[in-house]
Amino acid sequence: MKQMDRGYIFVNKSHLVSNLNYLSDLTKKELCLVVKANAYGHGIQWTVKTAEEAGISWFAVASVNEAIQVRNISKGARILLLAEPSKSQIKNVLKNEIDLTVYNEEFIDELINVEGNLNVHLKVDTGMHRIGCEPENFDKLMEKIQTSSLNLVGICTHFPTADTDEQYTQNALNLFKALISGHDTDGLLLHVDNSASSFYNSDDSFNMTRIGLAAYGTQISIKNYDHNLMPTMEIKTRISNLQKRNKGDAVSYGKSFELERDSTIATAPIGYGDGYPWNSFPDGHVLVNNKICKLIGRVTMDQILIDVTDIKVKVDDEVTVLGKSENGQHEITVTDIAQWNKTIEWEILTNMSRRLERIEIE
Ligand SMILES: Cc1ncc(COP(=O)(O)O)c(C=O)c1O
Repeated sequence: MKQMDRGYIFVNKSHLVSNLNYLSDLTKKELCLVVKANAYGHGIQWTVKTAEEAGISWFAVASVNEAIQVRNISKGARILLLAEPSKSQIKNVLKNEIDLTVYNEEFIDELINVEGNLNVHLKVDTGMHRIGCEPENFDKLMEKIQTSSLNLVGICTHFPTADTDEQYTQNALNLFKALISGHDTDGLLLHVDNSASSFYNSDDSFNMTRIGLAAYGTQISIKNYDHNLMPTMEIKTRISNLQKRNKGDAVSYGKSFELERDSTIATAPIGYGDGYPWNSFPDGHVLVNNKICKLIGRVTMDQILIDVTDIKVKVDDEVTVLGKSENGQHEITVTDIAQWNKTIEWEILTNMSRRLERIEIE
C-alpha cells in the first residue's frame, strides 16, 4: 500500500457486493441502489461500476447532474431521478434517458407537451409531506399519464418513519395499497421501501426497493434487526506529529481541552474540511496501534489531536478514524461517529469530502 499522506477512504468492493446480494435475498425485490451525494460519500464511479457488476441495473439520484454522472459511467443503467427537476433540465433528461419521479399536475402537463420518450414514476404522498401527489389526486394523475404519450414505469411513495415507527409505516403502506388497488399495475414497478423498512416489510405486492444506507453496510441505528451487512467504508490517516505537553496546558482552538496529566499528543491530518465532523470532540476517539485513543481539543479544519500518552507510537503510524483495529478487537462505526455528533449516519457518510482520496480494496 502506498505511503499515506493525509486521510484516505478505503471503499470495499467485496463488502458492497456481499451487501447487495444479502439485501436482494432478504427483500426478494429488484434493488434500486441510491447513489446520490456521491454514493453516500463512497465515490459514485466506483460504486456504480461495482454494483453493475453485481447485477444491479437501477440507480437513484437526487439531481440531473448526478444522473448524468451515472449515465457517463454506464450506458445501460436505468436511472431514477427522485424528485421533479426544473423545466430547464428536460432536454438533459431526454438526452440521458433518465426516469423521472413526478407528482405535480402542472409539471406533468408540461412533460406531456414535450416531444420524445419520457419515462415517469408517479409518487404519492402517504405521510412524509415532502413531495408526492395528494392521495385524492392519485386517480386523476394516473389517468392523465396513462392516456398521454408519457410512459408510466412505476408508482412509488416514501416512508418518513421507517426506522422509528413501524405502525405509521404500516398505515402509509395500507394507504398506498388502497390507492393502487383500483388500477391495473401489471408490468409496473411498485417501490416503497428504503433500507429500514426492507428489514420488516415482507409484503410481496411490491417489486422494487430503493436501498441506500444498508447497501453501504450501516446498521439502522434505532432498530436492531439482525443483519449480515458489512461496512463498505473505512477511513484511515496517519500520525503526522508528536509532542510532549505538561499537565495544565490547553490544546486546540478555544483552549478547548486542558491536559489533566503530562501527556503525549499526536496530530493526525484529517479534519472537518475532510468531512470528519467538528462535534466529534469531546466524545470521540480513534484507533492507534490497536488501542482506543481519545480526541483532545476541538477538531480543526485539517487536523485532529489525539491523546497517545499510554501507548507506543511513532510518526507515520496508522490512525483508524472509521473501521476496525488491525487485530479486529475494536471498531469505530458510522453510528458511533453519528452519536458523538448527535446526528444521523446518512449525514456522516454524505459529508465525507472529495479531499479524502478514495481507494478501492477487494
Ligand atoms: C426517496 C428516497 N428513497 C430511498 C432513499 C434511501 O434511503 P436509505 O438510505 O434509508 O435506504 C432515500 C434516501 O434519502 C430517498 O430520499
